[in-house]
Amino acid sequence: MTDKLRSEVLMLLKDESVPVNDRLQRVCELLKERISYYDWVGFYFRNGDKEELKLGPYAGNPTDHTIIPFGKGICGQVAVSNKNFVVPDVKAQDNYIACSLTVKSEIVIPLFKDGVNIGQIDIDSNTIDPFGKADEEFLEFVNAEVSKIL
Ligand code: SME
Repeated sequence: MTDKLRSEVLMLLKDESVPVNDRLQRVCELLKERISYYDWVGFYFRNGDKEELKLGPYAGNPTDHTIIPFGKGICGQVAVSNKNFVVPDVKAQDNYIACSLTVKSEIVIPLFKDGVNIGQIDIDSNTIDPFGKADEEFLEFVNAEVSKIL
């Protein structure tokens, strides 16, 4: 994840002429386009006071899973654990919600606002075991920057 990509993310997020949701949408599209093994990129956010996540901006195929209860799937687990979740092989997970048969791996990084877990960025990949420390650090950076504009 290059410095150039990081500065492009910053440029998109700081563009105040664009509504916040559209800025997040652009970030999803940028990441999907620029990182070959990012095949679906989306944000989920807590749905009001409910114990569930609601799909926000995303890039990639539409998913049926627009609402995910806390605790369910990789996303729902991150909503309660507050921890990064890297899944090298989705077949090895019991508590997993399949969005597409082509997806082989997934990474979910929680997004904090004022120390509270308010959502997450979720990446699906059609490649097996592609995610490393660099992805975690990069996506933590993206979430920290997103948090500043929410
Ligand atoms: N696979 C996720 C569901 C969301 S989709 O990947 C878009 C999960 O298990 O939580």
